[in-house]
Amino acid sequence: MNKKTIRDIDLQGKRVLMRADLNVPLKEGVITDDTRIRAELPTIRYILDQGAALIVLSHLGRPKGKVKPELSLKPVAERLAELLGQPVKMAPDCVGAEVEAMAQALKPGEVLMLENTRFHPEEKKNDPEFARQLASLGEIFVNDAFGTAHRAHASNVGVAHYLPTVAGFLMEKEIDFLSRATENPERPYIVILGGAKISDKIGVIRNLMGKADKLLIGGGMANTFFAAQGLEMGDSLVEESAVETARELLEAAGDKLILPVDAVIADAFSEEAQRRVIPVGTVPPGWRILDIGPKTVERFAAALRGARTVVWNGPMGVFELEPFAQGTFAVARILAELPDAITIIGGGDSASAVKKAGVADKMSHVSTGGGASLAFLEGKVLPGIAVIEDK
Ligand code: 3PG
Repeated sequence: MNKKTIRDIDLQGKRVLMRADLNVPLKEGVITDDTRIRAELPTIRYILDQGAALIVLSHLGRPKGKVKPELSLKPVAERLAELLGQPVKMAPDCVGAEVEAMAQALKPGEVLMLENTRFHPEEKKNDPEFARQLASLGEIFVNDAFGTAHRAHASNVGVAHYLPTVAGFLMEKEIDFLSRATENPERPYIVILGGAKISDKIGVIRNLMGKADKLLIGGGMANTFFAAQGLEMGDSLVEESAVETARELLEAAGDKLILPVDAVIADAFSEEAQRRVIPVGTVPPGWRILDIGPKTVERFAAALRGARTVVWNGPMGVFELEPFAQGTFAVARILAELPDAITIIGGGDSASAVKKAGVADKMSHVSTGGGASLAFLEGKVLPGIAVIEDK
């Protein structure tokens, strides 16, 4: 990576302002998945070990510029304290006189968590004055919020205009792994794409089509390709507005693009629905495709044999419903068993899928960024990465 990291800067005795993406899922105030907090521990421990005082910034949810107590970062600060094994002070806000005093009083080795940056409308507007106030709390800015890197907000981009800016270890790891999929991948290089909508993945297909040896397509988005081939789709989800684009992509990708050959269909979108396995193109009216079938799993397994780099983004079916999760879990297991491949899993649904399949720790990298990993794979310049100083 050609960006400066916390290894390239003297942190001793400094007040370090660190932007993390601690936007974790919460249910009635309880954190249901703390992966993003755990992912920050190496950076946090390193900063504290260097003798710095640490001030942590993050957003949580989408409070739309208003204070929403249910989106307070307090439970996140408590969880972080448990994981770190030391107290984490909680600020009542992220700017203002009281927060400034708390930041000034912070001693080396101590941690202060600021309140949700999105409680202020200035955050999403990347307001320069708000960014300056945030920046005034620290002397060095560490951007470790890969999950937010596709947003140009005050707390991850604006702040960088006022302070020396370096990456943390999570940001570095995400960039290193995802770059292996976009620059000189080891071959054979296979890209697996799924998810409901083809429109979400067009940018990724266009960017990776020329780089990958094969593109395996599953999930709802495959339906739009089938519709472009004139196949009978019954009540399956088809994105009519993207059929023409699907036709163009089919033509441009040629035999690189591998589509499902069979599917699990259901007579309703429900766990209790009747279901059947059919060859694609024979979906009766009233039925819909909700997963890839076993022959497709075999086809994908064969295509993945010998792979050296694999990127996977988007589930193969409606894996939230147990009867339609088998295709997604089977692909997860195939990846887990590839002997020589670097396996890179996009964040969001694909990350939940490998976790649910129990094989997350068998992957080379599971991204902590959903939208951010997608934007990276599209080849976009992510504003949160662009602001980090070059080496
Ligand atoms: C995410 O969860 O993808 C990031 O934290 C960004 O959140 P946002 O989509 O609300 O900007």
